[in-house]
Amino acid sequence: MYLTARRLIARGVTPTVILGFNTADEVFYKDEFEALGCTVLVTTVDGDLGIKGFVTDALGHIDYTYFYTCGPEPMLRAVYNAASTSGQLSFEERMGCGFGACMGCSCKTKYGNKRICRDGPVLEKEEIIW
Ligand code: FES
Repeated sequence: MYLTARRLIARGVTPTVILGFNTADEVFYKDEFEALGCTVLVTTVDGDLGIKGFVTDALGHIDYTYFYTCGPEPMLRAVYNAASTSGQLSFEERMGCGFGACMGCSCKTKYGNKRICRDGPVLEKEEIIW
């Protein structure tokens, strides 16, 4: 996400970055994104820092036209369901073989099953079937 944000900034786009954590003690890369020039929102589950709740709770606080997200699958599913725009999801799938043979990392899409290790890790929101 940091590289994506850096490339957007270089193209004259100022991204809003939402970073989600359980507690304030876990927060990382906030300063680095701010140093790039991003608008940064932090959410913490316990409410110690930023918006109380999950990253999806911050989506209602911003206007956006596209999203990029990465993180554990429950979070990806929550963003997928909450987002009002197109976007890209980067999966952190458990890998069996890691080279496309076992199908252990499959994700159902409208183009058939895609292997996160070989066809991903980034998939478009519109192609995913959950
Ligand atoms: S890990 Fe085996 S197909 Fe992806």
